Amino acid sequence: MSSKQHAHWSSRLAFILAATGSAVGLGNIWKFPYMVGESGGAAFVLVYLLCIALIGLPILVSEWLIGRRGQSNPANAMASVAEKAGRSRNWMIVGISGILGAFLILSFYSVIGGWSLYYTLNSVTGAFSGQDADGIGALFNGMLGNPGLLLLGHSVFMLLVIGIVARGVTKGLEGAVRTLMPALGVLLAVLVGYGVTTGHFGEAVSYLFNPDWSALSGETVLAALGHAFFTLSLGMGIMMAYGSYLGEEVNLLKTARTVVIMDTVIALGAGLAIFPIVFANDLDLNSGPGLIFVTLPLAFGNMGGGMILGLLFFLLLTFAALTSAISLLEPVVEFVEERTPLSRAMSTLVAGIGAWALGIAALLSFNVWSDPVLFGLGVFDLLDKLTSKFMLPLTGLGAILFAAWRLDRQSVVDELGLSAGGASIWHLVTRYVAPIGVIVVFVSSL
Ligand code: PHE
Ligand code: NA
Repeated sequence: MSSKQHAHWSSRLAFILAATGSAVGLGNIWKFPYMVGESGGAAFVLVYLLCIALIGLPILVSEWLIGRRGQSNPANAMASVAEKAGRSRNWMIVGISGILGAFLILSFYSVIGGWSLYYTLNSVTGAFSGQDADGIGALFNGMLGNPGLLLLGHSVFMLLVIGIVARGVTKGLEGAVRTLMPALGVLLAVLVGYGVTTGHFGEAVSYLFNPDWSALSGETVLAALGHAFFTLSLGMGIMMAYGSYLGEEVNLLKTARTVVIMDTVIALGAGLAIFPIVFANDLDLNSGPGLIFVTLPLAFGNMGGGMILGLLFFLLLTFAALTSAISLLEPVVEFVEERTPLSRAMSTLVAGIGAWALGIAALLSFNVWSDPVLFGLGVFDLLDKLTSKFMLPLTGLGAILFAAWRLDRQSVVDELGLSAGGASIWHLVTRYVAPIGVIVVFVSSL
């Protein structure tokens, strides 16, 4: 029989790498730099940091705290921690909705992972070379219109994810992030280094860091709030699952600060890598996935050393997507492993194949099954909207409300090592500020 002992991270560093690996994804490499540039540069970064401090970080710490106390999958952790605190086991629903959200997101996240693999390949085969905008656009649309190609990319990507997660927390997850995260850092540094040589680095710096307070609006503050949530992988049971492999010795607040700083630095670094290329080549600063899969390849195909730079860039994207995808599978696998007699490997296979199958429906919505299935949306968009607009905010809200209002106050203060002043701030933020922030974003996004 399989051993069902609960695993632990082998060090604080391993945990930081894994949590940062989950946090760093498309949100950093594509969305954040763009948001900053469009919404007022340094002024926006300041607002964003405030949102991170007041909403992202408290929810992150709450999820870790619940996971660590529960030492089991998000559903069981919520139930048992609630029971121990004399509360209803029905809080389990928060954990279940997180696990379900992770499962649904993984299905279509893997499809995009497949795009990233295909574009990594394209950059070595010279598919971008000498292409004009029409040619690059045709490459992208040709991929979307080709179900076989999408299925191949999706399947290879999911196989990589399954292969890593099946090997467990220390061998699989840690093994992957110990290689991929430093590699990601090096790739990013090289790309920023290239940006410096373009002669347009200063433009990128001022685009990102020049404060323009007039560009700040209620809308951009809302966008910053929403992004603070997404960028830290909150509301998906991920951080609860990762917290369940933690021991008492890790200081949650300090560790959260480190992860948040790394996530932000990588996001700003991505901006310093991408925008010099955009400015140097007079490219369009558009906000859609187009920037990564259409605009940048145009530049890579028409500049000296573009083949190498394209390869580095899409490898970076693939690594970022891979470390996020394994974090999406982990809560689902932890749940299946602990609730069934299946071994770790079998649980991973079952959960992974399930998400893979659903992903097929998602990828077909780009071509042969493009008719809307519900609310005028195809499967891909439906999964995206359902999770990002409803499941994530509500799950994150449930987690922080539980930690702030249903756990013994003193025990939380002790566990976080807070001073009297720190405790007051913590309670104010977790009981009122963060929940209200999440509710405001939730309601305004409907
Ligand atoms: N945090 C990731 C990012 O910023 C996004 C993500 C969401 C990753 C959900 C995993 C799960 O891109
Ligand atoms: Na992120």
